[in-house]
Amino acid sequence: MKNLNLNIENEIATITFDLVKQKVNKLSFEVLEELNTLLNEIKNDSSIKALILQSAKKNIFVAGADIKEIEAMKTPNEVFTQIIKGDDIFNKLESLPYPTIAYINGACMGGGLELALACKYRVATTNIKTKLAFPEIKLGFFPGLGGTQRAPKVIGLINSLDLILTGKSINAKKALRIGLVDEIFDDGQKEFKLNRFIQKSINKEIKNKKISFVNKLLEKYSITREFIYYKTLKSIEKKVNRDFNAPYMALEVIKQTFNKPLNEGIIIEAKAFSKLAATKESKYMIELFYLFEKFNKNFKKTQDPISNVVVIGNGVMGKGIIWLFSKFLKEVRIKLRKIEQMNSIFKSISKLYSSSVKRRSLSKSEVEFKLNKLSYTNSFDGMNNTEFAIEAIIEDEKEKKDIFKNLEDTLDKDAIIASNTSSISIEKLSSELKNKKNFLGVHFFNPVNMMPLVEIIPSTHTSKKTINRVRELLISCGKTPIIVGDCAGFIVNRILLPYLNEAAFILEEGSNIKKIDKVLKDFGMPMGPFTLADTVGIDIGYKVAEILNNSYGPRMPIAPILNRVYNELKLSGAKKGKGFYLYNKFSKKINNEVTDPYNLNRQFTDEQIIQRCIYIMINEASKCLEEKVVKSADIINFAMITGTGFPPYKGGILNYANDVGLNNILTTLNDLYSRYGLRFKPSKLLIKLVEHKKNFKTGEELWNF
Ligand code: NAI
Repeated sequence: MKNLNLNIENEIATITFDLVKQKVNKLSFEVLEELNTLLNEIKNDSSIKALILQSAKKNIFVAGADIKEIEAMKTPNEVFTQIIKGDDIFNKLESLPYPTIAYINGACMGGGLELALACKYRVATTNIKTKLAFPEIKLGFFPGLGGTQRAPKVIGLINSLDLILTGKSINAKKALRIGLVDEIFDDGQKEFKLNRFIQKSINKEIKNKKISFVNKLLEKYSITREFIYYKTLKSIEKKVNRDFNAPYMALEVIKQTFNKPLNEGIIIEAKAFSKLAATKESKYMIELFYLFEKFNKNFKKTQDPISNVVVIGNGVMGKGIIWLFSKFLKEVRIKLRKIEQMNSIFKSISKLYSSSVKRRSLSKSEVEFKLNKLSYTNSFDGMNNTEFAIEAIIEDEKEKKDIFKNLEDTLDKDAIIASNTSSISIEKLSSELKNKKNFLGVHFFNPVNMMPLVEIIPSTHTSKKTINRVRELLISCGKTPIIVGDCAGFIVNRILLPYLNEAAFILEEGSNIKKIDKVLKDFGMPMGPFTLADTVGIDIGYKVAEILNNSYGPRMPIAPILNRVYNELKLSGAKKGKGFYLYNKFSKKINNEVTDPYNLNRQFTDEQIIQRCIYIMINEASKCLEEKVVKSADIINFAMITGTGFPPYKGGILNYANDVGLNNILTTLNDLYSRYGLRFKPSKLLIKLVEHKKNFKTGEELWNF
């Protein structure tokens, strides 16, 4: 055997997963085949009293199925054939005549958890790396090796739906609480405690796991079960577009099979899984997973990772950044204008931590420890050890430059200085600095605690060392940085702003706020453009629109209605309770004041709205490639998915364009160009791609020559 070892000692068989030349254990076809062979070897051995499944890898039990193998399968039939083979092997494991125990010390994910569920018992260690989850939903499918069948039998319907539909991971303590594992202990006590557990299992002394009384009651009767399904469906609908099938289908499979015998349920699960795993949506979700992996590894480990930072500016973004660094680094110094500001900063940051305490991912004392890392000043002092300083003050070139000058005069010559500007050119911001090689843009997204993406924007002077150190810093703080070229709006804002602006043009031509928001939300955006403008802040959006207008000229005019909203009505959005919508504590309604002077009787089709708002972004994305602001279409897809919520299952904006057909997009853009002018003028690259019958996946040589 290459990957699994069987050892039989004192009547106890142990199968150890230790994939050859791999850091993690995965369930590839080869590994499953080896497992099958071993099970055949031991299934009729009457001398064996119990079987243990364990891993020789540090911090990993089994991390899941081999995604590459799933990705390579093109048809549902192909998937089904493989899945059924896997099911047969797990069934064989489940029907062994002696107790079977999964010893989980480390990550136990997806197929790994399904393997563990096919054992009679599960024991997990309290190792911080021990996590149990069904993350499949994030790849566009759901557990397909019996997970939707065995989990409800072990932990009940409600807990299974929660784990399967969210993909969240839980630690050993929580797993014990919901009955997913039977015992937990420290890995250091393995020899004694596992042996004791084995003996108890042989003697049939392990008590049945208990599902909570209330859950049991709710799950018992068909009428209350229907209520559970209904509530679950509603909560999926709130969060997930109908076009993304995985959670809807998972719910349907669980609903259909809850009372069915395992052998029937498994077939229903395998059929539904096979359909999903062969879809384009799932392939795109897998592509996204790989992009996350790639960008998260994209740095060279340094001898001296940054651990000590200064943050200047403490508005929405500054507070988020302070919170982030306090969570991951050793020291965070805050430069205030007035000392009194510290009260509100403490409050906001404690509030950000409170959700971690609620979720029990941090204890109160851990939060206190993190808050104690904060120190503050109202002058540029106490910054001698600073390795990295970031500014997040208002979007004003002169004010920002003043800060950089002060920082350069104060900090050590090796310290890195960064700006969180959302649109001002980094070249311009660094123009008066002496040490330009240590300066760059580090553009976080709002809210910092939720958004994984960060754009790193070097100027022509920024050194490779600086970029690498900042990448390392951000990745160590759980963020995923991408490198983008220096241009107004960088990538995400440059592409997104025309979308918001176009929605405003359509509005003043006679559509209405509700319709436009609904059409684009139904398309798959996390919220409509007007809700988004209100959420980000109309003041912020307007400033970015002005900067883009100044930089790109008549190609990016500001829709007149936005002038009215910002300059005349002085609306700033949800934070002040008034924007395109009026907000109160519980609900929002349309703010009619915005469209008072306009006649809102023109009908726009959904297609017209989508074409104008989405194709204008595609065109801008194409321009970014044409101008080499980024090197690959992948980076744009990734940025728009993680920075704006562009539907990931559509593969990001340029995969979506490929699927619509670049020819169709070009024809529509030409038509819109003739009607509305320059803002729809097709990018040269787009024209070239169509001429060469290429697309954003196949035509790389057309922008990378
Ligand atoms: P904000 O208006 O909430 O906060 C700005 C803060 O800067 C305020 O606390 C203000 O007191 C302080 N400030 C102003 N002038 C200062 C000075 N000379 N020295 C020290 N502090 C000063 O603005 P927000 O939204 O936090 O934006 C900050 C920066 O981050 C801007 O450059 C913005 O473009 C950028 N950004 C904003 C995003 C957003 O969605 N709000 C997203 C990404 C970047």
